[in-house]
Amino acid sequence: MLKIKGGNLLKGVIEVKGSKNASLALIVASLLNKGEVKLYNVPDILDVRRLLNILKHLNVNVNFKDNILILDSSKIEYKSLLIDEVKKIRASSYLMGAFLSLFNKVEIFNPGGCNFSNRPIDFHLNGFKEFGAIIQENENLIINLDNIKSGYYKIPKISVGTTINLLLFGALKDNLLIIDNVALEPEVEEVIDFLSLMGVEIIKIKERTLLIKGNKSLNKNVEYHVKNDRIEAASLALLGASIGDNLEIKGFNIYDNLYLLNIFLKLNVPFKLGGNSLTISKCVDFDGIELETNPYPLLPTDIQPLLSVFLSLGKSSSIIKENIYPKRNNYIKELNKLNYNLNVNNNLIIINNSNNLKGSHLVGEDLRGTFALLMGSLISDNTSYLKGKEYIERGYEDIFNRLRKIGANIEEISSY
Ligand code: EPU
Repeated sequence: MLKIKGGNLLKGVIEVKGSKNASLALIVASLLNKGEVKLYNVPDILDVRRLLNILKHLNVNVNFKDNILILDSSKIEYKSLLIDEVKKIRASSYLMGAFLSLFNKVEIFNPGGCNFSNRPIDFHLNGFKEFGAIIQENENLIINLDNIKSGYYKIPKISVGTTINLLLFGALKDNLLIIDNVALEPEVEEVIDFLSLMGVEIIKIKERTLLIKGNKSLNKNVEYHVKNDRIEAASLALLGASIGDNLEIKGFNIYDNLYLLNIFLKLNVPFKLGGNSLTISKCVDFDGIELETNPYPLLPTDIQPLLSVFLSLGKSSSIIKENIYPKRNNYIKELNKLNYNLNVNNNLIIINNSNNLKGSHLVGEDLRGTFALLMGSLISDNTSYLKGKEYIERGYEDIFNRLRKIGANIEEISSY
C-alpha cells in the first residue's frame, strides 16, 4: 500500500523508461526468430517479468539485466498455455499469433488484462479464421491451423492487439495476408520495423492496409532499441502540468505526444521543448475543454484517467468522451473521495472544478486508474492511503523511487 502526503511541487529531472506495450509485443515476436535477439531499453516492470516467466516455461533462454534483454528461442518447445501467468497479462494474447505461426496450433485461456472493462478478442479470432484457422472456443481456446490461406481481413474497429497478432500470425508463412483498417499506434510501427529487420516482408499498401508475406526461416541475430514509453511520458507531463515547477522530462516522445502537446498549448500550460525533453510547470486558471479519446494519432484512452485529474484543476468544467473503452471510469468513485468532482454519463466524463481536496483511503483496480488516484493524492495537500500499487508496477518501472527523487512524498507501507 502507498501512503501519500500530497502538496509538494515536483521539480528536477525525471527520465522516461522504455515502452511497455511495444516491449511486450516485441518479446513475443522474438519467439519467431531462431537467431539471438537483443532488445535495449526494455522496462523492468511486472508485466515484462510475467511474460518472461512464460517464455522460460517454453524453454526460451532469457537474460534480462539493466534494461537489456537477450532472448534465444532456438530451442522453443510447444506447450499448452493453460498456466497461471498467461491469465495475468493481456499481451499473452499475442502468444496465439506466434504459436500459430510456429506450431500451427495453440491451447490457451481466454487472455487477461486490465480490469476496467470486458476485453474481447473476437477480431483476433475472426482474423485467424479468415486465414484458415479452426477454432474451438469453450472456457479455453483450442486453435488449429492445418492449411493457412492467403486472403484479406478487415478489422471491424481499429485494434492494436488484433493488428499485432495478425502480423505475428503471418510472419513465418509464405502466404499473402492483407489486413485492412490496421492500428497506427507507435507500438504497431515498432513491431513492423522489428519483424522487417528479422526478414519478414511487410508492405504498407495504403495508410491503414498492410500486406504481409512471411519468411519461413527467420534466423538472423538482431538488435533493436525499444522507443520510450509514450504513455509514461504523457503521465509525467500531466503530473508536471498539475504540480510541476520546471519539471524536466528527459526522453519525452514529442512526436508521439503531439495531440497532448496541442491540448497544453490551448490551455496555456507553461512548457518548453528541448530536442528530446519537455520542461513543464503547473498551469493555473485555465478554462474547461471538450475532448474525446480515439485511436492514434488522436487522444489515447490510456491517458484519459490522468487527463481527468489534471482537468479538475480548471476554472470551468471539461468533458472527455471515452470512445475506446466506454466503461473506463472505475477510478472516478475513488477519486471523488478526495473531493474531486467528476460525473459519468454513459461514456462521457464530466469534470468539474475540484475544491477543498482532502485525504482518503483509496483502492485502485487497474494500471492507469490507479496512477490517476496516485496523481489525485499528490495534488491534494493531505495524506492519502492507496491500495493497489502493484497495478502501477505493472507498467511504470521503479516509479515510486523516481517520483520521490523529484519531490513526491510517497511511502510504501504494509498497512495503516
Ligand atoms: N476490440 C474488440 N474486439 C477485439 C479487440 C478489440 O471489440 O477482438 C475493441 C476493444 O474493446 C476496444 C477497441 O477494440 O474498444 C480497441 O482495443 P485494442 O485491441 O486496440 O486494445 P488492446 O490491443 O487490447 C492495447 C493496449 C492497451 C490500450 C489499447 C488501446 C497493450 C498490451 N494494451 O490494448 O493498453 O489501452 O491498446 O490503445 O498493448 C495500458 O497500457 O494501460 C493498456 C490498457
